[in-house]
Amino acid sequence: MYSEEWCHSLTSEFSKSLISEGKAKIIVNDVFYNPKMKFCRDVDMKVFEKLNADDYLDALSATGIRGIRAYLEASYNPIFNDKDKKAVKTIKMNLKLNKIEAEVLNEDANVLMRRRSFTHIDIDPFGSPSMFIDSACYSAKKYMSVTATDTAALCGSAITSGLRKYSSFVEKTEYYHELGLRNLIGKIAREITKYDKAIDVLISWGKEHYYRVHLKIKRSTRLAGELYKRVGYIFHCRKCGFRDWKSFEDEQMERHICSICNEKMRMYGPLWIGELHNIDFIKRLEKKGEVGELFKRIEEEIDIVTYYNTHNIACMLKTSPPPLDDLINYLKEVGYKASKTRFGGSTFKTDASIIEIKKAFTSLK
Ligand SMILES: C[S@@+](CC[C@H](N)C(=O)[O-])C[C@H]1O[C@@H](n2cnc3c(N)ncnc32)[C@H](O)[C@@H]1O
Ligand SMILES: [Zn+2]
Repeated sequence: MYSEEWCHSLTSEFSKSLISEGKAKIIVNDVFYNPKMKFCRDVDMKVFEKLNADDYLDALSATGIRGIRAYLEASYNPIFNDKDKKAVKTIKMNLKLNKIEAEVLNEDANVLMRRRSFTHIDIDPFGSPSMFIDSACYSAKKYMSVTATDTAALCGSAITSGLRKYSSFVEKTEYYHELGLRNLIGKIAREITKYDKAIDVLISWGKEHYYRVHLKIKRSTRLAGELYKRVGYIFHCRKCGFRDWKSFEDEQMERHICSICNEKMRMYGPLWIGELHNIDFIKRLEKKGEVGELFKRIEEEIDIVTYYNTHNIACMLKTSPPPLDDLINYLKEVGYKASKTRFGGSTFKTDASIIEIKKAFTSLK
């Protein structure tokens, strides 16, 4: 094992760039490290604690922070990889600093994932994960975790980028964060089924600059085929705000006219239209602190495709929005399901139609 003196000399040499995060201490040494992703890694650790993986590939490790925390906080067995030699040197130093012995590889992640299978694969790239998804789908046996920071391509702000990277057409809407997540999961779903594997979304969320998903993988030709019940299109009326969604298996794919105002509807997809989390899994997560707040919001969110934003509806009605809690209570009182969403702010989900929602706005004035 590594002596205290060795660790001490290392930490004094790099004292300026020594960082503590969770139970880990790392040296950054000019390798990529984003302190803003701490919350994401905090959530990850709570999720990993509940998983059962023999091995975990931190495929794009950089400093190794995620794999190191997974070892220290979730009793994981990480394997580290980065194609950058400087990153590999830094990971090795950080492993010594945290008294961890683990395999460190210096390969192109795609080549590695074609060569070897891993129980749990984590893809945390610069920008888009799209170029790693196929290999990860091929290699991952039980779990896959993916981060995307190319939110503009995923949520419809950069339409052509979205088409190039995710082969899906989306435009900016008031529920753009949800479109982004559904786009990312949809891409993974469409890539994985050719390997006779299906996915179940354990948890997913989005923040301003990233989306993150943790998926359970199931090997089954039957389930892979059935996955297309949960992949489909969202139809959106830009005039009145009405939405609808249909899976690939649905017979009414040709219904492109808004049933409320007769306007031609926009068709977004292909996208994931299944659940954005597994409720039994979410119930098992500890609801403490800031991370727990996210778990609570997800647990309380109703399973409806797309959310609304009170500000957008108020704008359509040329009025001011009611308080979110009042609106949700009102909708529930008149017999609909309604909840806040994981995306926060003034967003809400409901099974009430856009007509009923607008009526609620008028009643609450
Ligand atoms: C965003 S950083 C990873 C951050 C890290 N997971 C964390 O939590 O701080 C992306 C890393 O991927 C590495 N990388 C980029 N392309 C790669 C490839 N094709 N194969 C392996 N590593 C790659 C880069 O060198 C960089 O260190
Ligand atoms: Zn309409």
